[in-house]
Amino acid sequence: MLKLFAITLFVAYGWASNVSEEAYVAAIIQDDDNRCAGAIVSDQWILTTGRCAKYLDLAVSTITVGTNDLSKLGQIFSSQEVKEHPNYVDIGSFNYDLALIKLNSTIKLGQDAKIIELTGEDIKDMENLAVAGWKRKRDPSPTTKLQLIDVIGVGDNSKCSKLEGQDAKNVFCLVGDKMSDEEKVASGGYQGGVIMGLNHTLKGIVSGFSRPDDPDSLGLAMRVFPFKKWIMDNIK
Ligand SMILES: *[C@@H]1O[C@H](CO)[C@@H](O)[C@H](O)[C@H]1NC(C)=O
Ligand SMILES: *[C@@H]1O[C@H](CO)[C@@H](O)[C@H](O)[C@H]1NC(C)=O
Ligand SMILES: *[C@@H]1O[C@H](CO)[C@@H](O)[C@H](O)[C@H]1NC(C)=O
Repeated sequence: MLKLFAITLFVAYGWASNVSEEAYVAAIIQDDDNRCAGAIVSDQWILTTGRCAKYLDLAVSTITVGTNDLSKLGQIFSSQEVKEHPNYVDIGSFNYDLALIKLNSTIKLGQDAKIIELTGEDIKDMENLAVAGWKRKRDPSPTTKLQLIDVIGVGDNSKCSKLEGQDAKNVFCLVGDKMSDEEKVASGGYQGGVIMGLNHTLKGIVSGFSRPDDPDSLGLAMRVFPFKKWIMDNIK
């Protein structure tokens, strides 16, 4: 029932439009491995997780946009400045797991590289979403190609036992019965993955996926809507 509903929605609202998802997604690469994804939120800023920005050595990382296969060249940048969310401290502060990375020059926008629109509303309960992210070299069946996965966003945190007893108002759970076991295992690599709603609006950023033996939830994601003002103020 849920699946049928999802398919109907995708077709009705043009999920499968001609706009390719990769145009909105950056790759943050260190030691020749795809460490994190990020969303292009302006022609010079990428939104990713706080832990991605904190635990990578951005001085030796490159940030690529404009390609869906990292074995092919896109536009390549380095990081000029990082703004972690002020409430992000370490991996324990998962309610604020976001950071903005400023590129060393501006992205040439076009068909291949586009700014993703920030959503005007929070996640709905059981909302159909898509994650666009990169696998890592250590993942099963590693690939340099961008991965697109259908997921369902659980907007109501009381339905997600992972979040019980946590201050987690800025976080939501992802579920997805369409995900294969292999994808679940691999999904540890989707850190910073760009979560898009219908019409390619930015709804969330993958914070961390669960272990595949956790049937309750595939992972956790940051809501973008509560951070809209922080993002807009910082990328001016
Ligand atoms: C998608 O591409 C096809 C063929 O190129 C074109 O006819 C159609 O109008 C496009 N649709 C959108 C929504 O851009
Ligand atoms: C930005 O960084 C990239 C990657 O390090 C480098 O190739 C490029 O020349 C830099 N651009 C500018 C304008 O400094
Ligand atoms: C998606 O965009 C189309 C065309 O601009 C619009 O008609 C439709 O209402 C939008 N759908 C959603 C869910 O925003």
